Amino acid sequence: MDAFVTISYNGQEIKLPVVIGSEGEKAIDISDLRAKTGFITLDPGYANTGSCLSAITYMDGEKGILRYRGIPVEQLAKHATFKETAYLLINGKLPNRDQLTRFSVMLNDNSLVHEDLKAFYLNFPRASHPMGILSSMVNALRSFYPELDSLEEEINITMTRLLAKVRTMAAMSYKISRGHKVVYPRPDLTYCENFLNMMFDTPVKPYQINRAAVNALRVFWILHADHEQNCSTSAVRVVGSARVNLYAAISSGIAALWGPLHGGANQAVIEMLNAIQADGGNFQKAIQRARDRNDPFRLMGFGHRVYKTYDPRATIMKTMCDELLESLQINDPLLDIAKGLEEVALKDPYFIDHHLYPNIDFYSGIVLRAIGIPTNMFTVLFAIGRLPGWIAQWKESIDDPLWKICRPRQVYTGPREYNFVPLHARA
Ligand code: CMC
Repeated sequence: MDAFVTISYNGQEIKLPVVIGSEGEKAIDISDLRAKTGFITLDPGYANTGSCLSAITYMDGEKGILRYRGIPVEQLAKHATFKETAYLLINGKLPNRDQLTRFSVMLNDNSLVHEDLKAFYLNFPRASHPMGILSSMVNALRSFYPELDSLEEEINITMTRLLAKVRTMAAMSYKISRGHKVVYPRPDLTYCENFLNMMFDTPVKPYQINRAAVNALRVFWILHADHEQNCSTSAVRVVGSARVNLYAAISSGIAALWGPLHGGANQAVIEMLNAIQADGGNFQKAIQRARDRNDPFRLMGFGHRVYKTYDPRATIMKTMCDELLESLQINDPLLDIAKGLEEVALKDPYFIDHHLYPNIDFYSGIVLRAIGIPTNMFTVLFAIGRLPGWIAQWKESIDDPLWKICRPRQVYTGPREYNFVPLHARA
């Protein structure tokens, strides 16, 4: 293949270098385009724009492939712990026994949060959405844990603090929202067990570790751990490119994730399925509305910017959902509605033509409901899972020799220059 792409304009020929990724992905390096031609490229929503070189996650949207640092997500979901997956994403390799022990000790040592943080939680209005609270609280962490002296120590400690504390903070916000006593992390429990224990243990009903729930949470978090340059990860990279501290960059990622087109879709799916159930289970109506171009309604949990086939995470999530519900002996009518909806949508010409398939969020809400997670906490669970990815991507951007502050251009379409009109002369 040519190492250049040639573009011609007005009799001038310009050669632009071709960049090939390790899986054969092709890109044209346009970084000199404006200097050579005066042109910029226009790509709303960045659907065709590569913002960086990255060695973390590989996705093939046409084939439905997802790998973290080269390892298929299916294998990680089957064999790995969430902690190992986080280590893999951040450090590039699975940890050996010693590394894993050190990592576990550091996570345990950092899992408590400053008691003064409770005061913040208590002062948020009761109806606040947990994602708004989490985004603010993560930003607030910088005030509790000011900068350390060496950059390396700062990065390592901050990453560990975030992985350890965000989980504690999420459970804490749930307990406080219910007016219940906060449950602290325990050193004898795993990462996933600890979270469930902090969420559901009460002085009057001690939490019994449920293996099926712990496994479901493990898989849920692994499947969410990274997804290359998605909206929230791009937010982390863009905000981080201004060289803000990691807490602020992650806080912006949480804010982006909150949106119903992104991480907020898991909550939106359950709300949609509930609405369909309340409407007598008529999912044909939802399909019709989704097809109608004059109706802004979209089938939540369907479609993806990159996947033009079944989201590989959704395949795992659907199987896990069936197994979990069977193991917990739960009969969730929303699962029947979801399956009916999926069956009809996958045969519908609109969905076929638009390459719309279920994404991870289609079944993840039913899994979280089965574990007992309240609906408004679903996206918080996504955020905890995505933390390793955000951290790994931020770290990669900090170490990137091609690093630049993110600053896209635009094509201006407003009025041409005209003179200021004094108030008395304005129409
Ligand atoms: N229901 C109905 N029509 C849809 C849907 C949907 N869920 N998704 C896309 N379309 C249509 C859209 O109307 C458009 O049609 P047309 O070309 O005829 O105007 C076409 O498909 C392309 O849509 P788009 O908005 O240009 O595609 P996108 O790549 O910008 O959007 C998306 C991707 C995920 C935002 C979109 O598919 C969507 O809104 N899905 C529902 C929300 C959802 O489930 N989000 C979770 C994504 S997975 C979790 C994560 O990683 O964030």
